[in-house]
Amino acid sequence: MGSSFHTPVMLKEAVDFLNCRSGGIILDGTVGGGGHACEILKRTDPDGILVGIDLDDDALHESRRKLKPFSERVFLTQGNFADMKTILSSLNIKAVDGILLDLGVSSHQLETTTRGFSFSSDAPLDMRMDQRSGFSAYDLVNTTPERELEKIIRDYGEEFRARKIVSALSKQRKLAPIRTTRELAEIVIRAMPHPVKRRRIHPATKTFQALRIAVNDELANLHTSLNDGIDLLRKSGRFSVISFHSLEDRIVKNVFRSWEKGCICPPDFPICACNRKKKLTVITKKPITPGEAEINSNPRARSARLRTAERV
Ligand SMILES: C[S@@+](CC[C@H](N)C(=O)[O-])C[C@H]1O[C@@H](n2cnc3c(N)ncnc32)[C@H](O)[C@@H]1O
Repeated sequence: MGSSFHTPVMLKEAVDFLNCRSGGIILDGTVGGGGHACEILKRTDPDGILVGIDLDDDALHESRRKLKPFSERVFLTQGNFADMKTILSSLNIKAVDGILLDLGVSSHQLETTTRGFSFSSDAPLDMRMDQRSGFSAYDLVNTTPERELEKIIRDYGEEFRARKIVSALSKQRKLAPIRTTRELAEIVIRAMPHPVKRRRIHPATKTFQALRIAVNDELANLHTSLNDGIDLLRKSGRFSVISFHSLEDRIVKNVFRSWEKGCICPPDFPICACNRKKKLTVITKKPITPGEAEINSNPRARSARLRTAERV
């Protein structure tokens, strides 16, 4: 591990938007290699607290190493950010001043061949962010009923060729289980028409994204953590989320907007029946994206979008 573990995306922008101050308590729900966390700790000097959560044991090892100079102000937990309420309560923390979620996978996860997140090397089909979980991409690909698998690939990968892909996967898995990332990628490539095979983007990109989202239940976790996180924020506390594809970004945008609006009753209702009150002001009316210089030095930043909201 070490310095190449992960380069934090939109480091300055994401931390600026959190309005860090001395003594503040910030929750980093995706602490990863500790890049954003380190900057947060500097900006909450001398007595701010950082609670870091990550599903991945490797990430916790790395962030523990990186954040050592601040160890008295850091609490790291292996867990799911969807459980942030319970995790904070176990630390006796009732409210926080800021929350950061930097979604998706780290460079370390993508580049560790044995983790099976990438089609660029051959590895067992795994894709679990939490190495303790009992359900991997192998189980998903080999045991999910065809219709369900098709829906996963269509909805989470926004892949309109899902039917063809699943039909090829299904034929293959009847003969023998699909075991590796390369086997899977080759089946997907064979199911594609010729022009797609020649494109710059690998034809299996969308299928791999879909399977990763499903294996880790990423969208449901995001939903839960947004709604719970908003309630954990103190007045004027900030919630920042960096997302990497349109499905995540849409969820962040819609949840933030719905709590900015408060009442969700149909406009023809004479009085409010939902009793939802405004909880947020959205700070970033449009998502913040990385500048050209950042994209040139870190191509993985290309699809990043940052949204921030403030608790009222
Ligand atoms: C893009 S990386 C974060 C990098 C980090 N901000 C840094 O500066 O190094 C995303 C991290 O989120 C973690 N992760 C993804 N989903 C999670 C979840 N539901 N709960 C906790 N951690 C999660 C992944 O394991 C990964 O380490």
